[in-house]
Amino acid sequence: TDYVKIAPSILSADFARLGEEVKAVDEAGADWIHIDVMDGHFVPNLTFGPPVIACIRPWTKKFFDVHLMIDPAQPFLEDYAKAGADQIVVHAEADKHLDRSIQVIKGLGKKAGVSLNPHTPVSVLENVIDQLDMVLIMSVNPGFGGQSFIPAALNKITQVKEMIAGRPIDIQVDGGVNAATAKSVVDAGATCLVAGSAVFKGDDYVATIKAIRDAYSA
Ligand code: DX5
Ligand code: ZN
Repeated sequence: TDYVKIAPSILSADFARLGEEVKAVDEAGADWIHIDVMDGHFVPNLTFGPPVIACIRPWTKKFFDVHLMIDPAQPFLEDYAKAGADQIVVHAEADKHLDRSIQVIKGLGKKAGVSLNPHTPVSVLENVIDQLDMVLIMSVNPGFGGQSFIPAALNKITQVKEMIAGRPIDIQVDGGVNAATAKSVVDAGATCLVAGSAVFKGDDYVATIKAIRDAYSA
């Protein structure tokens, strides 16, 4: 396997100490920082928006992977770019014009990803896949950390891998990823693993990130 990136999700971090938490996972070996934005409309939960992302930006140089669980997303893309996102991920189920959202993100000079909810077929990506830097396969219904991995995601990872056909597009998996589920996800073709509660609810970030890596490197 090629190098697989680990992206701790700050959804499960201590929000009162977000800057320190981001710095801690950076030093513990995180490749990317996964930032979950929720609007209480697209998903049944609320988190934070661009001002909070701008506040944590100085705490690390690591790649900010911003997962927008908001509808609409398009009117706010520029705000997330200015706040410090390196990649902006929109949901295929949000907005009306996915192609336009992708073009706006690229026009802002950022990497673009599209996320698919568990019920959404991979085929919705057929006409945009060439423009993408990453596909995010949700392996839980978005909204909350700490849910169980949905095994049907594995087949979708395989389908995305086939659609990508060797092009340099990341396949990220988000939801219920931990040292027990990581190997099946990587074996199916994932190149980037999001882990929220697995990392932040443990007390040793170094050990947890290493345990996830060891699970699929063996
Ligand atoms: C869920 C978020 C995930 C979440 C994953 O809506 O998109 O990024 O933080 O949490 P865990 O790893 O605990 O399933
Ligand atoms: Zn996420």
